[in-house]
Amino acid sequence: MNAHLTAAEQAALTSGADFWHTTAVGSAGIPAITLTDGPHGVRLAVTPGDPLTGQPATCFPPAVTAASTWDPDLVRRMGEALGDEARAMGVSVLLGPAVNLKRSPLCGRNFEYFSEDPLLTAALGVAWVCGVQSRGVGASLKHFAANSQETDRMRVSSDVDERTLRELYLRAFACVVRKARPWTVMCSYNRLNGVHVAQHRWLLTEVLRGEWGFDGVVVSDWGAVVDRVASVAAGLDLTMPGPDAAGDRALVDAVRTGRLDQQVLTRSADRVRALVGRCAAHATAGYDVDAHHALAREIAARGIVLLKNDGVLPLGAGSIAVLGEYARTPRYQGGGSSAITPTRLDDALSEITAATSARVAFAPGYDSAEPDPALLAEAAELARTSDVALVFVGTPAETEGVDRASLDLPVAHLELVQQVVAANPRTVVLLCNGGVVRTAPWDAAVPGLVECWLPGQAGGGAIADVLFGRVNPSGRLAETIPRRLVDHPSHLDFPGGDGHLRYGEGVHVGYRGFDAREQEVSYAFGFGLSYTTFAYGAATATADQHGIRVRVPVTNTGDRDGREVVQAYVSRPGSRVRRAPRELKAFANVPIAAGETAEVVLEIARDDLAHWDVRLSRWVVEGGPHHVAVGASSRDLRTTAVVEVDGDDVRVPLTGQSSLAEWFADPRGARVLGSALDGPAIDPALLTLAAAMPLDRLAKMFPGGPLDPAAVARLVAAVNS
Ligand code: BGC
Repeated sequence: MNAHLTAAEQAALTSGADFWHTTAVGSAGIPAITLTDGPHGVRLAVTPGDPLTGQPATCFPPAVTAASTWDPDLVRRMGEALGDEARAMGVSVLLGPAVNLKRSPLCGRNFEYFSEDPLLTAALGVAWVCGVQSRGVGASLKHFAANSQETDRMRVSSDVDERTLRELYLRAFACVVRKARPWTVMCSYNRLNGVHVAQHRWLLTEVLRGEWGFDGVVVSDWGAVVDRVASVAAGLDLTMPGPDAAGDRALVDAVRTGRLDQQVLTRSADRVRALVGRCAAHATAGYDVDAHHALAREIAARGIVLLKNDGVLPLGAGSIAVLGEYARTPRYQGGGSSAITPTRLDDALSEITAATSARVAFAPGYDSAEPDPALLAEAAELARTSDVALVFVGTPAETEGVDRASLDLPVAHLELVQQVVAANPRTVVLLCNGGVVRTAPWDAAVPGLVECWLPGQAGGGAIADVLFGRVNPSGRLAETIPRRLVDHPSHLDFPGGDGHLRYGEGVHVGYRGFDAREQEVSYAFGFGLSYTTFAYGAATATADQHGIRVRVPVTNTGDRDGREVVQAYVSRPGSRVRRAPRELKAFANVPIAAGETAEVVLEIARDDLAHWDVRLSRWVVEGGPHHVAVGASSRDLRTTAVVEVDGDDVRVPLTGQSSLAEWFADPRGARVLGSALDGPAIDPALLTLAAAMPLDRLAKMFPGGPLDPAAVARLVAAVNS
């Protein structure tokens, strides 16, 4: 039974008791629940006095690596394992997934985010939430919304136009809310178009609940709330962390003085109570530490992206020089709230050594960002006397709270690559990084390049699996690797200044912007090599009221079993709105045995063809021919099908503010206006001149003309009747 709560109890229930717990209300039999990070492991605090150090848990690959698998089934399995660990540790809500778009490669938290593309992000976010929640543990979809940088993150206003917001930055949130029904959504720190997200009523109530049907709890990011009363009024339910005695008192006062409707507070408290109720059946069970480590290894191996291979991989029987400190001391996750204390930690050096009977020798190559001549010479000498050299380089620590200053590798790492390649041309560079690094121009000189990302606690074994061909690489880039930072669409508007961050590239985020400007890139969105090859047959496409169905035969033409990530990009030539030249609209991750052909079917949902029409404030599918290009990356499109799609009805109401041209472009408008202007033919030059003028302005300018204000009013009534 729902016992009645006083306003004071409701206020207490809607703020945390401490860093990670909600407040129990004993009189009503409401226990406290535990929420904790997230997203690639369960970070349950060891002691209340140190809320940031976690007990050991599996450190799965961070989102950057999980996303590069392009495999929602695998991410769902990761979610299930995370759910099992959370349950075993008594955690009710795991704070993830983070579905913010990677707007700039410099964002310090890109390792926690999936992709620069909303469709891929959404598919993986849905999988993560479904996996975790299938275990009776709640997810917290974060950080809602437009939180794509760390600089000034608690105050900066993300200034985004509505179409960009809807089509790009909100799209994955909408999809995950609708399809996976997360128990909670976490509002972000930043402001959106000037208003703190934690008190953004349009976002938290009108869009999230009203349009998308969210019925769970909106929780604040930790410390995001500025004005508790304004937040609750806007639709925020749970303020974390706590306690927040002053905020609780302010809420009670606001209710007493009528500044806040009692029902609004009751609703929030009821939502928190319902969340607690969902978690009540919580049972603890152990989890299989070894099986989770093995799963972490499987995901990491599948997320590694083979960027370049001039025949040097997979490794043969010759001797190996393993160079670079990161081979021995792995970079396996980023810093900040997502940092996990792993149950164990594999390093690449040991795993490579264990995987071969060949001689494996190691030299650290660097011990800081500055080149050390002695370390470099030792590494180069080892490379010279080995059959193949593996060079591990990457970013220095990346962490929540700060954006990166540069795309470049540290100088000492660049120098190591250069000296090793000079000593032994059979060199493979292995990148260890959470955000993309610049590979041009030095990659031209290396025959092998492997993007290992931050692969989690089992990354060392995963790297060995790929190097020796125990796993045939199938990871794909979920973000573009630019040639230069200045080429990036976000470059001129990152990280903003004076409290504002203008999303100046609009809908042209990531590859959309590179493609629109026909910019050369180092490695395109969707790209990744395999140890086998795939050939595409001709794609065919049909459209109906549900969307577009594409079929394409794909053949494994090599001699190894492998996986192909088949990608479908849609273009709308002649669209009346500015669009990217192509947008990812479907993909399939398909295992194909050597010599076999798979008949791949890709389903493009009709909703995903829509753009946000700012005139009508709604989604619209444009009718006409849609080009569906299918291939192995956004820039390796092998076959295109053209299909006719029926458009939505898009009659824009004509008003006095509509221009002469708009009236004439509309068949009814042309008829009604044409007969009103009936008389001597209008000079075509005059018509051209006046085409952009709104009718009511013409009426003002030419008071004696055929369009006086009364006539305009009659026309508007007639045309819309
Ligand atoms: C982060 C969130 C995290 C929360 C709790 C915040 O600083 O932005 O992602 O879930 O802390 O640790």
